[in-house]
Amino acid sequence: MSTNIQTIISQMTLEEKAALCTGASAWSTTPIERLGVPEMIVSDGPHGVRRVADVQSMMQDSLPATCFPTASCLASTWDVDLLHEMGEALAEECIALNVDVILGPGANMKRSPLGGRNFEYYSEDPYLAGEMAASLINGIQSRGVGTSLKHYAVNNQEFQRFCISAEVDERTLREIYLPAFEKAVKQAKPWTVMCAYNKLNGEYCSEHQTLLIDILKNEWGFEGLVVSDWGAVHDRVASLKGGVDLEMPGPQERRVNAVVEEVRSGKLDEAILDESVRRILNIVFKAKETPKDGTFDVDAHHKLAHKVAVEGMVLLKNNGLLPLSGQQHIAVIGRSAEHAHFQGGGSSHINPTKVSVPFNELGDEAGDAELTFTEGYPADDSFQQDMIDQAVTHAQSADVAVLYIALPSFKESEGYDRSDLDLTEQQVALIKAVAKVQPKTVVVLNNGAPVVMSDWIDDVAAVLEGWMMGQAGGAAIADVLFGKVNPSGKLAETFPIKLSDTPAHLNWPGGAGEVRYGEGLFIGYRYYDAKQMPVLFPFGYGLSYTNFDYTNAKVSSKTFKDVEGVTVTVDVTNTGTFAGKEIVQVYVHDHASGLVRPQKELKGFAKVELQPGETKSVSIQLDFRAFAYYHPEYKRWITEDGDFDILIAASAEDIRQTLTVTLESTLSLPCILDKESTIREWMDDPRGKVVFEPLYAQIEAMSREMFGDGDEGEGDMAIIGMDIMEGLKDMPVVSLLLWQQDALPMPADEIVDGLLSQVHSDEA
Ligand code: BGC
Repeated sequence: MSTNIQTIISQMTLEEKAALCTGASAWSTTPIERLGVPEMIVSDGPHGVRRVADVQSMMQDSLPATCFPTASCLASTWDVDLLHEMGEALAEECIALNVDVILGPGANMKRSPLGGRNFEYYSEDPYLAGEMAASLINGIQSRGVGTSLKHYAVNNQEFQRFCISAEVDERTLREIYLPAFEKAVKQAKPWTVMCAYNKLNGEYCSEHQTLLIDILKNEWGFEGLVVSDWGAVHDRVASLKGGVDLEMPGPQERRVNAVVEEVRSGKLDEAILDESVRRILNIVFKAKETPKDGTFDVDAHHKLAHKVAVEGMVLLKNNGLLPLSGQQHIAVIGRSAEHAHFQGGGSSHINPTKVSVPFNELGDEAGDAELTFTEGYPADDSFQQDMIDQAVTHAQSADVAVLYIALPSFKESEGYDRSDLDLTEQQVALIKAVAKVQPKTVVVLNNGAPVVMSDWIDDVAAVLEGWMMGQAGGAAIADVLFGKVNPSGKLAETFPIKLSDTPAHLNWPGGAGEVRYGEGLFIGYRYYDAKQMPVLFPFGYGLSYTNFDYTNAKVSSKTFKDVEGVTVTVDVTNTGTFAGKEIVQVYVHDHASGLVRPQKELKGFAKVELQPGETKSVSIQLDFRAFAYYHPEYKRWITEDGDFDILIAASAEDIRQTLTVTLESTLSLPCILDKESTIREWMDDPRGKVVFEPLYAQIEAMSREMFGDGDEGEGDMAIIGMDIMEGLKDMPVVSLLLWQQDALPMPADEIVDGLLSQVHSDEA
């Protein structure tokens, strides 16, 4: 194949090369008939195929396809095998609808629950998001259909998403915003990666050489093509140099001409263009190895969408009312019981093959019970007391009230962020009024991201988080409410008590062209841990109709080398009467580290199915990266010798077993002492200490003489009233020596140069 591609490249004119690097239409690449280069068709993405019949049209209705649950729900399954299976189904639909590459999944972090597009993303945790993205990609690509991992990178808000600059420090970038992409690229090799619209630290992601070339292509070994988000390219030549191989959408004749001119004038090296052409041709020809025809099994995929929705729903509260059984009269309240809210607005909006109506599905499960329906709230933001009054009358006379509450799309969608975490005023009033007359009230939520519940959570008997549940979600809700299926989803993001508690609150959404990621590493549970702040529902939380015990936790070795990693095992027992599934989570806590670290971080998980009374042993492997952190001075992930706690947990706040292990680092890190290194840094560095210690003794003696000995009771301390060595330790050695220059045999700079040459002597 590669020789063939080289031959084609050698036969291409400059104009053909430039044209290939920009789309021919909204959804297709440029074919070159004379050389047998076919067009390639791409479509959104990510939880269904949005195949617009006419590829020239950006906005036409799309062909019917299965609308699976959106990413918030997918991540709450914590089920990598299920995502693989869903990926295979998506690929089958792509094949039937003539799509070569589906534009997804999205692996951006949920920095704030206000992000309008959070429903399309997996988690606030990079490890979980990476696992989910990798599985979906592997599933899709196992059938010969390509994916586009998006939006690379740091695209975490809708406000000014086309131009705002996300200002992020290097460590935060490496530890929080990039790892999900890194994992997906390394584990699943997506055919394409889509660059984000926004800027990162002042540079458009569509021109970001560090992001696209140095990190993605060179460091992670990404072999596919980088495609721009739709309209993300500002300067085609700069974006080619920056690593964007394919600009979408097309056609863009002026830009294609600009590329040709820049090559002719020598301002753009043709080799750069050739490299993008090679990457595009590789994928175009790979895509054509999978013939696109046939149909897909609409019913089987609807069933799969149903299964995924069931697995992703999270039971948040249950005072024992659920599962429903034996009720004679069920008051079904809420517009979304009849008009299912199962997906979000924007580019991911799917034209579903069919839709399960929640009310009908509940009726099917309810047997002989009588079901009544009232709408409860309008489609818009108006307040209508009469609808509430009517709902109260229904609820009063029933045995149980089931409220279907959907966060309307005017509050949550691609294209705009949320301004608060609230339901509508009418919805809150409705829940409170119904709960007042009917203690047996269940709230079923449909939303893509957390809502606050303080006003009403204590008044209701049960809450089921149904997410944007896909076209079959209505049936999934009925299954869970009636206990046909035991809920097993757990939250992939924290539900805060109130908006002002959230990590990015003081730095959201930015302005004057930039948004500062001031909370750094501390997003999601990392933040709530550090602040010791209570939350409504923690990361990793979800109830079941049964209980699970964790016993007999073990590690393969108490002391281990970082490169070998360690295996954790724990026995999980279903101690209740319902069959069910448990999601076991493993977090790692570092006892001591050179740089500040989050209190704990998720590094492994497993989902296990257990019959009543059954016990299974669960094994989770922790590798080098489970213990490492990114050090911006070494410019790499490092491990440090020392103790770590391994926390085996049912949620971020429900730690069931703790094991302590000792890591031996195999790294031999270069010495990073330099002219600015402080006294403390010299003394903390093993090589530095050896050469610096004699001088340190002198410095200390001189300093104590000059400034006092630090004993407050005695006279000398009074000179400047402080413990002088504590005060000096965080000063660069050279700065301190300058103060004492008179007493030194040579210039301070030369002394430090001498020390540095000793510690760096083996690096020549
Ligand atoms: C979105 C992408 C999408 C593309 C094509 C963009 O506005 O950000 O996620 O794939 O449009 O519809």
